[in-house]
Amino acid sequence: MKILFTASEAAPYIKTGGLGDVGQALPSALAALGHEVKIVLPLYGKIKENEKLMSGLTYYGQTRTPLSWRNQYTGIFREGEGKNPEYIFVDNEYYFRRGDGPIYGHGDDGERYAFFSRAVIETMISIGFTPDVLHCNDWQTALTPVFLRKFYPKFNKVRTVFTIHNIEYQGKMPSSFASDVVGVDSDTAALLTYGDCINLMKGAIVFSDAVTTVSESYAGEILTEYYSHGLSPILRENSHKLFGIVNGIDMDVFNPQTDKALYANYGPTVEAVKDKQKDKLFLQETLGLRPEKDTPIVAMITRLVSHKGMDLVACVINEIMALGVQVVILGTGEYAYENIMRMTAEKYPGRMAAEIRFDPKLANAIYAGADIFLMPSQSEPCGLSQMVAMRYGTIPIVRETGGLRDTVPAYDPTDGSGRGFTFVDYNAHEMLRAVERCVDFYRNDKKGFDRLVRKNMKTDFSWNVSVKKYLKVYRNKM
Ligand code: GLC
Repeated sequence: MKILFTASEAAPYIKTGGLGDVGQALPSALAALGHEVKIVLPLYGKIKENEKLMSGLTYYGQTRTPLSWRNQYTGIFREGEGKNPEYIFVDNEYYFRRGDGPIYGHGDDGERYAFFSRAVIETMISIGFTPDVLHCNDWQTALTPVFLRKFYPKFNKVRTVFTIHNIEYQGKMPSSFASDVVGVDSDTAALLTYGDCINLMKGAIVFSDAVTTVSESYAGEILTEYYSHGLSPILRENSHKLFGIVNGIDMDVFNPQTDKALYANYGPTVEAVKDKQKDKLFLQETLGLRPEKDTPIVAMITRLVSHKGMDLVACVINEIMALGVQVVILGTGEYAYENIMRMTAEKYPGRMAAEIRFDPKLANAIYAGADIFLMPSQSEPCGLSQMVAMRYGTIPIVRETGGLRDTVPAYDPTDGSGRGFTFVDYNAHEMLRAVERCVDFYRNDKKGFDRLVRKNMKTDFSWNVSVKKYLKVYRNKM
């Protein structure tokens, strides 16, 4: 099959979150099965100013992209023949060269990504690649299926698939956006309208042939009001074409046996896993924690925001400390949570570390050195960290929601089934009970704990299964 995959980010070129990981891993998994895959991305200034990244690209040519009354320069840079998946970049400095700052959050994001969404199709025409499937992701590329159906009838056989990675961000624009930027008639504008504004994600849901989201549980959750940020009525109307497919992780990138960021590498055998202890001591030393090998380390690597469960953690952090554990927190986010975590760490010298920054290398050292990984999200479309933690033999504690529910079934001591500790209600003391049960398991059944560590490390979290489900959606065979 020929597949064109497009998103606002894909590693290794540009990544701000889980979407960037999926943008790399899913196309690679498809290509590994022999499909021809192109990934189209904006050529952000951050890429263009990076010599190393640019050295692999060549200028292919240019075309123009109409956008209502505009007609914008569209440069095309490619990795070139033989690459599969091949990354292709849409260049327009007016839209994408925005200095060193973040790639999102500009006042004209709507227009920037509307341009990109249409430029994807113009690029496809320029390079002469007509895909069987055009796979778009999140609101930034939500207009691509709309443009394709409205303005490019010659591609009516191209199947469009839209994936929701997070329903919170829908691309809401003022009503004038339909005529001024998208350039569509009032009938089409009505299809893009939701409530009192233009809603790009709604447009993609209506116009795409299939809609997917990143776990089965989340696919069910977003049909309800609590989780859907207003879109549940639209999704219910379109539920016949909605599918949940859980993300995988790249088992080679996330491999404690080869990970160069680790102090000591280790595998899942009884002998080899002992070296995880070395990573624990190294972590304690690095972060100024007491070098106690039998004190469980509870870690969080997260954005410090409420919906990741920080409000629950802030509420019972002292009770968690009273369990006699060590706590490590890595991430940035809302000022209030950053402060609470910093202040609590000061209160417990040698027992708690609050690292308020973005540090991928330290993240891996934490996945390896910690014993327990806490992820109490209020909602979680999929979540990748819990899988990485398990791959590194760190036992997850999660709230049963979205992908957390699907990837971390509750551990059952009677038969050893399950993978971690869970709680259902979004409540600080429910979470605390789960932490208590996990710490108790660590202290009073060390053999059982170690068995679970090894079992999780051997679990297949790769894309192998999910990629086949995507192919079924691509072929309309779900
Ligand atoms: C978003 C979601 C996260 C998911 C990721 C990749 O960041 O919040 O749960 O894992 O996308 O699909």
